[in-house]
Amino acid sequence: MKNEEVVTNTLKIFILAVELNTFSDVWMKLDLKEFYKLLVRPTVVVSTISPNGISNAAPFSWNSPMDTEPKTLFGFASDVKHDTWRNIKSNGEFVANLVGEKFGPLMEIMERDFPYEISEIEECGLTEIESNHVKPPRIKEAYGWLECEMIDHVHLSDSVVWVIGRVIEAEVKDEAFDEVVNVEKVKPLNHIWGTAFVTDMRLNRFKRA
Ligand SMILES: Cc1cc2nc3c(=O)[nH]c(=O)nc-3n(C[C@H](O)[C@H](O)[C@H](O)COP(=O)(O)O)c2cc1C
Repeated sequence: MKNEEVVTNTLKIFILAVELNTFSDVWMKLDLKEFYKLLVRPTVVVSTISPNGISNAAPFSWNSPMDTEPKTLFGFASDVKHDTWRNIKSNGEFVANLVGEKFGPLMEIMERDFPYEISEIEECGLTEIESNHVKPPRIKEAYGWLECEMIDHVHLSDSVVWVIGRVIEAEVKDEAFDEVVNVEKVKPLNHIWGTAFVTDMRLNRFKRA
């Protein structure tokens, strides 16, 4: 590297270090049970199907990709009392429907504790379409879908189970994808806690090592 480049890089890092100090040096401790209020997470609507063939859908924001090679894995945490878990336990299949901010007003309906085998998809006036590889339907109004079959699960406590699904199909609407998901277009419905959602996102690119 030339001398001028070394000086420029040093200067750049110095400016960045100054800019990183955006906040004052005053901070607060959270109640430990509230740590997740610091994390913004995408909401997926998980659709499943009962042994009688009735669909079910519910929002889940405690979710994450888990691996891509050699296995394509996606997981989420579910209360064991949820109909979602009841259905997955019985047939091992689910679809993670990827949703944008237009689904926001539907959260309240989807999360209602309907009797088993009342379809939230129907209650919300949404459209079921057939999945390619699993029995649970896709929700047409979503911008993308992960069709999954459960390969494992871990009981994290008496009340919570972590479901591990192998993604066997990932599909996205053309307009919603531009090398990566087009966040400006789909406006992913991110969740923090309670009624606090985050919807406006902007793609930014940073050099990687
Ligand atoms: C935005 C949002 C995110 C949620 N995330 C989760 C979650 O990650 N895990 C969970 O067990 N419940 C979560 N819930 C609650 C369930 O969606 C809700 O209890 C639902 O009624 C369960 O439906 P089911 O019994 O049909 O499966 C969330 C609710 C909302 C609105």
